[in-house]
Amino acid sequence: MKKSILITGGMGYIGSHTSLKLIDAGYDLILLDNLSNSSLKVKTRISNLTDKEFKYINGDIRDGNLLKKIFKEYNVSSVIHFAGLKAVGDSEKYPLEYYENNVLGSINLFKEMSLANIKSLVFSSSATVYGNPRVPFCKEDTPLKPVNVYGKTKLIIEDILRDLKKSDPNWRIINLRYFNPVGAHPSGMIGEDPKGKPNNLMPFISQIAIGRRSKLSVFGGDYNTSDGTGRRDYIHIEDLASAHLAALEKLLKGDDILHMNINLGTGKSYSVMEVIRAFESISSKNIPFEITKRRSGDIAEIYADPTLAKNQLEWTAKYGLEQMCLDTWNWQSKNPTGY
Ligand code: NAD
Ligand code: WQD
Repeated sequence: MKKSILITGGMGYIGSHTSLKLIDAGYDLILLDNLSNSSLKVKTRISNLTDKEFKYINGDIRDGNLLKKIFKEYNVSSVIHFAGLKAVGDSEKYPLEYYENNVLGSINLFKEMSLANIKSLVFSSSATVYGNPRVPFCKEDTPLKPVNVYGKTKLIIEDILRDLKKSDPNWRIINLRYFNPVGAHPSGMIGEDPKGKPNNLMPFISQIAIGRRSKLSVFGGDYNTSDGTGRRDYIHIEDLASAHLAALEKLLKGDDILHMNINLGTGKSYSVMEVIRAFESISSKNIPFEITKRRSGDIAEIYADPTLAKNQLEWTAKYGLEQMCLDTWNWQSKNPTGY
């Protein structure tokens, strides 16, 4: 039986772009998603963008019987684990939901993987595990001090994986710590489609440009940064997808001891004002904004040291801010109301 890769959360923003990249690279994929934050239309869009087949299963990572069935039916060699809840504000309001979905869901997945003797994993972690670092330039050994429930769920899962590896060296694990993923596939057929009011900067700006929202609140103009607004390491979703392909290939080809935490960013930060100006320039739209008070939990600046990704995955980000804005705008213009 041909080997397959299980993608949890495969219908989501990062999962869909990564899946398309892997399908095009010739991998057999099973996409598992409960559609709690995505749409079934993603499946059709991915199908339309490739001439290759893939399998989609509607289900939840917390459903042990379903996972047993999948691992029995398919010859799964590795799992890329995207499924999870990711809204920082909601995580503070509904901590139990976040711990249950993210932590319990992951434990359940790792347990069933273990029982099926599948011990190869790429996990979607986040730069949020660094919290508010003393210096904004983060290496992987920057102290891990998440400041919200969402970030704590990511750190707990990383800790569980550390203990799992210690208990059984056959596990091969790569935790990818993403900085700020933005942009869309160049076709404009798949992209980020937040439900309700966007929490993140780039989708908020693009919804203003398309006329769905009137004004951006810039959260704080008094940070100790170049122009007083927050600076982040934005990374193009296509670069992020390529990094997953590289991580998967590293897991599949080697037989060395492997347990790594790897930052995925460009190594460069942009301020909120710089993002607004870049978006205005590529879309020829005016983005009205107002400087408001700081958002609770925000920090002045954070960006990645991407050296480890370069050394270990032979990967570096190719795209800059202009391409990120162009592809976001292309997706938004072709899909004014999302999927
Ligand atoms: P997303 O919400 O678009 O995708 C997550 C997918 O998982 C959704 O399709 C959702 O329906 C599904 N899902 C959630 N809980 C599930 C469950 N219990 N069982 C099955 N499916 C479930 O989010 P995304 O931006 O694509 O993020 C993917 C992963 O990357 C998440 O784990 C997120 O925490 C992590 N991450 C995201 C960012 C970001 O800024 N987008 C940054 C760092 C890390
Ligand atoms: C970027 C900048 C805001 C919205 C979040 C999560 C993080 C990770 C990525 C998952 C900041 C400013 C934003 C707005 C604004 N996700 N901003 N007005 O906060 O860096 O990271 O997404 O793992 O865990 O915390 O991203 O896009 O929300 O904010 O001024 O309406 O834009 O203050 O400086 P953030 P963001």
